[in-house]
Amino acid sequence: MNIQYLDADITRLAVDAIVNAANNSLLGGGGVDGAIHRGAGPELLNFCRNLGGCNTGEAVLTPGFNLPAKQIIHTVGPVWHGGNSGEASLLRRCYENSLRLAQEQGEIRRIAFPAISCGVYGYPKAAACEVALSALTQWPGCARFDQILLVCPDAGVREAYRRLGVKPAQAENCSPLRSR
Ligand code: APR
Repeated sequence: MNIQYLDADITRLAVDAIVNAANNSLLGGGGVDGAIHRGAGPELLNFCRNLGGCNTGEAVLTPGFNLPAKQIIHTVGPVWHGGNSGEASLLRRCYENSLRLAQEQGEIRRIAFPAISCGVYGYPKAAACEVALSALTQWPGCARFDQILLVCPDAGVREAYRRLGVKPAQAENCSPLRSR
């Protein structure tokens, strides 16, 4: 299967696109969003200032600027409110819209996702990983990607993916981790 998990800092992956767990403003924040903006540099913020934000569940594409990744797909996950506010379908749309953008861009063959909503937004990890894996595997064009990396420095997220049968990426078929 072309979907594997990887314990790494997503900002160091030299893949075609990394996905950012952004907020609706697209103007940066903490967590992986903060790391991506730090790694990409101020040009990313200037670029995002002109995008007019992003709705939850939607996704937008920007260049990677100073990151090893060529492109960034920014998507906004749902904040967890207990599970009865449409969180699962919004989270699913984050993964689907990210893949749709990647396919439309045409040259993205290797893409890396963080565990969207599993940090500040408080989505329970096991449930979020199940939504993520289901969205990715059921996406019609999933097999067109050479590699879909589920990047998870958080042990709880790794365990959740392991329980779902996702295998770890082998070092030899991972993009070199660029030293920063
Ligand atoms: N590389 C990969 N994964 C990371 C990294 C990193 N450098 N930094 C954090 N993570 C992981 C977290 O461990 C978590 O499992 O990304 C997952 C998502 O956590 P958050 O970054 O907190 O994202 P989210 O829960 O979607 O909350 C988004 O937080 O940072 C703000 O601006 C952001 O308001 C938005 C909110």
